Amino acid sequence: MRTQVAIVGGGPAGLMLGRLLDLRGIESVILEARDREYVQQRVRAGVLEQATMDLMDEVGLGERMHAEGLVHEGVELRFDGEGHRIALSDLTGGRAITIYGQQEVVKDLIEARIGSKLPLHFEVSDVKVDPEQGTVTYTHQGDQHRLEADLIAGCDGFHGVCRPTIQDVLTVYEREYPFGWMGILAECAPSSHELIYAHHERGFALASMRSHAITRMYLQCAPDAEPLPDEEIWDELDLRFGMEVNRGPIFEKGVTPMRSFVVEPMQHGKLYLAGDAAHIVPPTGAKGLNTAMADVALLASSFGNEAALQAYTQRALERVWRVQHFSYWMTSMLHRMSDDPFETQIQRSQLRYTVSSQAQATALAENYVGLPFITA
Ligand code: FAD
Ligand code: DHB
Repeated sequence: MRTQVAIVGGGPAGLMLGRLLDLRGIESVILEARDREYVQQRVRAGVLEQATMDLMDEVGLGERMHAEGLVHEGVELRFDGEGHRIALSDLTGGRAITIYGQQEVVKDLIEARIGSKLPLHFEVSDVKVDPEQGTVTYTHQGDQHRLEADLIAGCDGFHGVCRPTIQDVLTVYEREYPFGWMGILAECAPSSHELIYAHHERGFALASMRSHAITRMYLQCAPDAEPLPDEEIWDELDLRFGMEVNRGPIFEKGVTPMRSFVVEPMQHGKLYLAGDAAHIVPPTGAKGLNTAMADVALLASSFGNEAALQAYTQRALERVWRVQHFSYWMTSMLHRMSDDPFETQIQRSQLRYTVSSQAQATALAENYVGLPFITA
């Protein structure tokens, strides 16, 4: 079978790319290893940058996001027992973030794809890509298939098959952090109407939400930690936020390790990588999903333009490295990095400066609401 773009991976990057291409009249086939239920239930990110919101509107899928998402115009940094608000919108000419779960974005994109009767195959296996020939072979419902394409989009996440196919030509830039995040979802009202990023001697904590009735919280932990019993999690959150947080039944618990990772180039032959397949950030600052969206906005607009495709890596990486620095900076300012008291003093100075200098607060705000997406 022939198509213009073979998209490997039906996560946010692959699904959004399919939608953008469709709106430009370009054919694609999306291949996803998991089943629909699994992809729609996978709990991950929750913060949409301004440009991701704009992209959802641009592709005609912003309606539920506007109805159910929570727009935030500020965020709190908490340290030494005190909270300090960073006025995101005031500092960025009115830009904001929206709390809308990644799986909601994925649901909206899948529904639109299926509604448009365009090919999206779940539960494919044995996916193999040939970047030189532009072919993808895979098994679906027991049958083997071969897809020929002008371009293969590797949107199959960090553990996918596309990046390893071209590993011989890649330079890898990587950093692992000696901690992870223990995340919970609980049935209770958020303890604060804005997100709180807390620096504490026992480790970082983050208070977020999914709705007015669902709380999302994270605790810095060992990268290989087992989730703590519920009561211990709540007690630890109280300690790190320095307040009694609202409690309720916890219905989701998990530990995520943290790493920074970038490959260069993001393309070889007819294969173009986008999203987590090409780069990972530590979650502090909520950039993973948004950066995946930035990549596919650029890739979709480059299709059919040879010079733009040639420049894809360079243009994508410019934004990727900005995001890498921001995520690294937020991570190292807010987490317990080591037992070294010198490091703690440096962090406290950096935090005090960030909340007291308009220049530094603006730098945080403009990166947090996100830089504009680049298109060809
Ligand atoms: P993915 O979402 O990983 O999608 C890739 C898709 O490809 C998946 O559906 C996968 O099933 C599929 N696939 C894999 N291999 C194959 C194959 N061989 N063939 C076909 N399909 C394949 N970011 C934040 O900003 N904030 C957070 O709080 C946050 N929390 C996270 C928690 C976890 C546990 C993880 C793993 C990530 C988290 N992220 C977070 C990062 C964010 O979720 C990702 O950056 C985002 O999902 C990237 O989208 P993507 O489409 O590039 O990759
Ligand atoms: C969430 C995740 C993040 O990584 C972050 O920085 C803020 C919020 C969340 O899942 O709500």
